[in-house]
Amino acid sequence: MNNISDQKLALKGKKVLLRVDLNVPIKDGTITETSRIEKIIPTIKLLLEKKAKIIILSHIGRPNGKIVKGMSLEPISKKLASLLSTEVFFHNGLINENTISKTNKMQNSSIMMLENVRFNEGEETNDREFSKKLSKLADIYINDAFSCSHRAHASVEGITKFIPSYFGLQITQEIKALKKITSEIKKPVTLIIGGSKISTKINIINNLIKKFNNIIIVGGMANTMLGNTGLKIGKSICERNSAHLVKEILENSKKYNCKITCPIDVVVSKSLHGDGKEKNIEEINDDEMILDIGTKTIDLIRRTINSSNSILWNGPAGYFENPNFQNGTKQILESISQKTKNDKIFSVAGGGETVAAINKFNEINSLTFVSTAGGAFLEYLEGKTLPAIKAITQNV
Ligand code: 3PG
Repeated sequence: MNNISDQKLALKGKKVLLRVDLNVPIKDGTITETSRIEKIIPTIKLLLEKKAKIIILSHIGRPNGKIVKGMSLEPISKKLASLLSTEVFFHNGLINENTISKTNKMQNSSIMMLENVRFNEGEETNDREFSKKLSKLADIYINDAFSCSHRAHASVEGITKFIPSYFGLQITQEIKALKKITSEIKKPVTLIIGGSKISTKINIINNLIKKFNNIIIVGGMANTMLGNTGLKIGKSICERNSAHLVKEILENSKKYNCKITCPIDVVVSKSLHGDGKEKNIEEINDDEMILDIGTKTIDLIRRTINSSNSILWNGPAGYFENPNFQNGTKQILESISQKTKNDKIFSVAGGGETVAAINKFNEINSLTFVSTAGGAFLEYLEGKTLPAIKAITQNV
């Protein structure tokens, strides 16, 4: 792999454009989960040691080429400075000639963080001119953002055509771990999938059915499955127009002999801040929403976990931010951790919300591997080639 740890790579005095994924959850101006920031520290420390001039590039949210005040990276630059105990200069505004002239004045071992790259129009459209402009910011480009490498955007794909490009330490670790897992995976394989990014994941389930023995669907994803098969799910989040996809999933599961499990009981409430009430799936009132899985479902999941040799998990089982609805996610995590410890099976979890849950319940070291990536992790499992990874493998 073209990696920055390559001893022959001269970095002293070089301007290095480091693309990382700092798309972390922020609530009322406060960062609520810092794993993605912590994971890039080793790469930055290596660049500091080698006396490079570090220009950090990242995105947060989906501002669609417009400047959105609540999506600034400034609070993250402050957090990074405090984690590194060093100064991180924050460059406000869009990327233009002025940015290039500022990077030209940088000292060795100094750090500059640029504003959200998705504020620039050409980023998400992978515009060639914008990619070229980005490349003028530095001498060397490093991708250390596995979690956005499934996007063919300028700052991860287009740029590699104009500047020597390498992988960082974090992305290398993710690729190595996922490669090992996908090549050595032992059946029966179970995928537990939940969370709220429904439309992007439902297609992925359809593709993974062919590779897995069990797929357990929880969280917002399960509501879409249940709501589209005629069950009353009250005011739970659900994508109503997915009936055809749900039908396809169920048909494919029969065809490929993959067992699909959806909740048979749930915890409901009238609001996200309310108390929970356990109910069978057929008993939900119009003014209630599903916010967690129930005890019978947890039991079913535990039994499936215990009969598996590999477990992959993406997406929480409920609204775990409220302790009244955290039990399902916590129990799934505990069962996977226990099974991993007892039987030395492969267990891999991925995704921003999943990592946040694992950190909340203090189980970060009890799984075989925890990936910071969500969508990229699932696409990798599907066997897809991630455009930003292909770009570096091909272009250098
Ligand atoms: C993520 O959080 O999975 C990555 O930052 C990618 O974000 P995106 O789905 O908005 O491209």
